[in-house]
Amino acid sequence: MNKNAEYLTGEKAAAGSNQALKLFEDYREYAEMEHLYNAAIRQLTIKFEILNDEFKVKYERSPIHHIESRVKTAASIVNKLLLRGAEISPASARENINDIAGVRVVCCYIDDVYSVADMLLRQSDIRLLREQDYIKEPNYNGYRSLHLDIELPIYLSERTEMVKAEVQIRTVAMDFWASLEHDLRYKSDREIPPGIGSQMLSCANEIAAIDRQMQQIAKQIQAI
Ligand code: GTP
Ligand code: MG
Repeated sequence: MNKNAEYLTGEKAAAGSNQALKLFEDYREYAEMEHLYNAAIRQLTIKFEILNDEFKVKYERSPIHHIESRVKTAASIVNKLLLRGAEISPASARENINDIAGVRVVCCYIDDVYSVADMLLRQSDIRLLREQDYIKEPNYNGYRSLHLDIELPIYLSERTEMVKAEVQIRTVAMDFWASLEHDLRYKSDREIPPGIGSQMLSCANEIAAIDRQMQQIAKQIQAI
């Protein structure tokens, strides 16, 4: 689990709010939901680890640098439901929020991002709900990452549940930028000096150029 992976505004607003308690009204239902999302994260992590290991055996290198994951906190879930004007309940959370389970796969090179995504999506139990390619079309601030909202089956003792998860796949360089930008966002209640946004954008573009260059170097090395 990586606490820093949490990226939400307004979490503080819900902390301490008795709205969060509504989610726990039927504690058993909430605990069952949390169990499902933990299971989804474990399943996905294993899938990525197996793919990475296979790559190591076949090509003597790892496309995945590291994997992070987190389950959204109750306060964050409540905030998102409030923002969307949705009912506060575990059933509503499962219906309305795609990223209660979040897995971030940090890859070495840009091509690895797309191979890892393809390898996951080729698996017959993975259903793609939505793809957002912020590498082909970066965010206004320069954020780059490939987001896949997916659904996968979790096999329980008496039934199978389809569980949603958000998979973010990006390079180490993109992750470096996103982590710093995330910190900056956390400080957004303080006075941020003017021009920081355009400096961040220019850093993102330089990092993207380096990513492309590193990809070329990697290809030359692999061809030896
Ligand atoms: P959700 O349903 O909340 O996922 O809405 P969305 O699909 O419009 O959001 P999106 O998938 O684009 O972004 C969700 C996550 O991506 C965030 O929680 C962050 O982890 C990450 N993210 C998106 N934009 C940025 C950004 O500008 N900077 C950073 N650091 N992270 C971002
Ligand atoms: Mg999303």
